[in-house]
Amino acid sequence: MRKKIVAGNWKMNNDLSETEILLRELKNKIIPDAVSVMVAPTFVNLQTAVQLLEGTEIGVAAQNMYFEEKGAFTGEVSMSMLKGIGVDTVILGHSERRSIFGETNTIIAKKVQAAVNNEMTVIFCFGEELKDRQSGSHFEVVKEQLDTGVFTLFEPAWKNVILAYEPVWAIGTGVTASPEQAQEMHGFIRKAIAERYTNELAENVSILYGGSVKPNNAKEIFNQPDVDGGLIGGAALNADDFMAIVNAF
Ligand code: 13P
Repeated sequence: MRKKIVAGNWKMNNDLSETEILLRELKNKIIPDAVSVMVAPTFVNLQTAVQLLEGTEIGVAAQNMYFEEKGAFTGEVSMSMLKGIGVDTVILGHSERRSIFGETNTIIAKKVQAAVNNEMTVIFCFGEELKDRQSGSHFEVVKEQLDTGVFTLFEPAWKNVILAYEPVWAIGTGVTASPEQAQEMHGFIRKAIAERYTNELAENVSILYGGSVKPNNAKEIFNQPDVDGGLIGGAALNADDFMAIVNAF
C-alpha cells in the first residue's frame, strides 16, 4: 500500500538559528505511525537538520540537486554530496525552479533520472499555471510534465518516486484547489500511471497535493481517495501548523 506523506518545503526561509529552533520544536512532537514526515531546509542547513533529527521519525530532503556527479558546475550540489551528509531524498521540478530559474522539462528529466539511478528518492513536482486551467489545458500540461519527467523511467525506479501535484496558481497564494479539483487531477494522474505502467504500480505511488495547504483545509484535501498527503510551503514554517497538517488524515 502506498504511504501517506507530509513534507515541508521550507524554500529559501530560515537561517541557521531559525532552523535549529523549528527543528527542536518539531522534534518534540509525536508523529503518527501511519504518516511519513520530512522537512526540506535550504542546502546550508541540511547537515544540521540531519544531526538534529537523528533518532526521530522525521526525514530530511533537499530542495534541488544537479545531475552531474562532480566538476566545473559553480554553485551546484551533487547527489553524492547530499548522500554524504545523510540526505537521500530530493525535491525536483518545483514550479519555482521551473519559472524563476528556467528549469525545463528536459533538465528536470535529467535530474530525475540521475537521482533514481543513484537510489535517491525523488519528490517530483509538477502542475499547471493559471492560464492553463483557464484555457482548459491543465490535464494536457500535467500529462506532458509526467511524460517527459517520469514516464521515461523503467518500472523498478518507481519505488523511489513520490509525485507532488502543485497547481502553480495555488502556491503561496492562499487559494487552494478545492478537494474536488485535487481529486479530479490526482485521479487523472493515477490513471495515466496505470495506462503507462500497471494498475499495481499506480496504486502504490504516493501522490501529494501542494498549494496553500493549511491546518484548516488539510483534512478535506487529504480525505480524497487519490490524495496521499501534502507538500507544504508556508505552513511548514510553523511547528504547530505543520503538525496539525501531519495529523489531518
Ligand atoms: P504553499 O504551501 O506556501 O502554497 O507552497 C506550496 C509549495 O510550493 C510546496 O512546495
